Amino acid sequence: MDSYVGVFDSGVGGLAVVRELKNRLPREAIMYVADSRFFPYGTKPREQVIERATAIIEYLEQHGARIVVVACNTASSAIFPDIQQRVSVPVLGMISAGVKSAQLATRNNRVAVLSTPGTARRHGYLRAMSLLDPTVDMIELQSQELVNLVEAGTIDGRDVTDYASDVLKPVHEFGADTLVLGCTHFPFLTRLMESILGSSVKIVDPSKELAYEVGLVLEGCRLRALTGHPDRFLTTGDTGDFLDKARLFLGDYVNSVEVADI
Ligand code: DGL
Repeated sequence: MDSYVGVFDSGVGGLAVVRELKNRLPREAIMYVADSRFFPYGTKPREQVIERATAIIEYLEQHGARIVVVACNTASSAIFPDIQQRVSVPVLGMISAGVKSAQLATRNNRVAVLSTPGTARRHGYLRAMSLLDPTVDMIELQSQELVNLVEAGTIDGRDVTDYASDVLKPVHEFGADTLVLGCTHFPFLTRLMESILGSSVKIVDPSKELAYEVGLVLEGCRLRALTGHPDRFLTTGDTGDFLDKARLFLGDYVNSVEVADI
């Protein structure tokens, strides 16, 4: 069986993580599952998110993943640390990478994190930051509307600009010099958010740090790929629809999407 770095999200957001993984670890083949049939995770109860995430991680493990990347903050905030006891491959998530990147980026120790309502409700970022560095003050902002727009392929125009301007207002009021993109759908809005916030706020995408951590774990566990083989993209929803979106965000290199029966 071919072996993969398994990656999943509720939809297109995790493709931003795939982009970083391919930049840093170009020889690693990716198996990506979009749980499109159950999108969005951001408004679902924790138990449902845990159930879906666990089923997908087990599926990835059974189909050749030797490490799993939870490319979804909402799922990461729900399943860690317990998930590692249920599966035998290493599982890495977004939140610890997010707080680490924010701590490295901030100069005034005031950080905002923008996530889904589910992630904000569980306060995973606040707790992780208080463990890593209690001198950093953090505010949590949330928007499911922005997630839904990105999932629908809308990354510019009136609606998305209005929602983003509104939700980002507290960033300057709080005096944050750093904004963490605490949902993997948001890196596709980086340029828009930069134009709203101006140059005094640094926008941090946790995917970069996460891709670095994945490399370390693969190296440390002697799990690096020996031969390259093609990436695979799967969805629990409509394959044609996901192919169009994956091409929009990752380009023509995605040329087929399979069904994941999970
Ligand atoms: N992209 C996901 C995240 O990072 C979840 C979006 C959703 O399904 O609501 O939280």
